[in-house]
Amino acid sequence: MAMWFITITLTLLFSSLTAAENSDFFEYVSPNSLGLKKEKLLHLHFFLHDVTSGSKPTAVQIAEAQTTNTSSTFFGFLAIADDPLTVGPDPGSKVVGKGQGLYGFSDQNEVALVMLFNLVFTEGKFNGSTLSLLGRNLIFENERELTIVGGSGVFKLARGFADLKKYSLDNKTGNAIVEYNIYVFHY
Ligand SMILES: *[C@@H]1O[C@H](CO)[C@@H](O)[C@H](O)[C@H]1NC(C)=O
Ligand SMILES: *[C@@H]1O[C@H](CO)[C@@H](O)[C@H](O)[C@H]1NC(C)=O
Ligand SMILES: *[C@@H]1O[C@H](CO)[C@@H](O)[C@H](O)[C@H]1NC(C)=O
Repeated sequence: MAMWFITITLTLLFSSLTAAENSDFFEYVSPNSLGLKKEKLLHLHFFLHDVTSGSKPTAVQIAEAQTTNTSSTFFGFLAIADDPLTVGPDPGSKVVGKGQGLYGFSDQNEVALVMLFNLVFTEGKFNGSTLSLLGRNLIFENERELTIVGGSGVFKLARGFADLKKYSLDNKTGNAIVEYNIYVFHY
């Protein structure tokens, strides 16, 4: 019994090794072959408007836990957002993109979000390009640092961080304006 098991295992192992040797599913290429030249450090500055109240909210609750209504930190609350990004704190200032994604209250002791966002730019050379943001957001702290884990378009292979600063937060409605300073390496 052990014998046939070993035989089959060896056969599978051998054939998978052969398959790897014979296949062409990977190759090393130079960054130039993708038109990627010199890596640059870029600073982006804008304001995100998260509107949870009124007739045109930009962020809506999509789920909550049975126990969220008894949690002082809103633990288990999950929302999805399509928040405008503008050049100034005034919601009427020029829109440069959208912050689209999920945020959930993910801490039982502090009010902290897990954020999973695509920053979708719509202006100039960044039109159509995205940055992917992932991080912990202590929304009542004045300043927080989140991670830029990647990007697309102009921002492919991007990495960096986002400094978030509270501009305004309405405790009653939850409406927030947040200043973003992003530093990102990209090609
Ligand atoms: C919280 O919500 C649950 C249902 O999701 C409900 O059964 C419960 O009564 C609510 N508790 C409070 C304190 O509102
Ligand atoms: C951004 O790209 C879209 C789609 O290609 C286009 O419709 C739009 O006019 C562009 N916006 C700017 C400001 O260039
Ligand atoms: C809003 O709530 C937070 C957390 O409870 C508190 O630290 C802050 O002082 C409140 N702000 C206002 C303007 O009430």
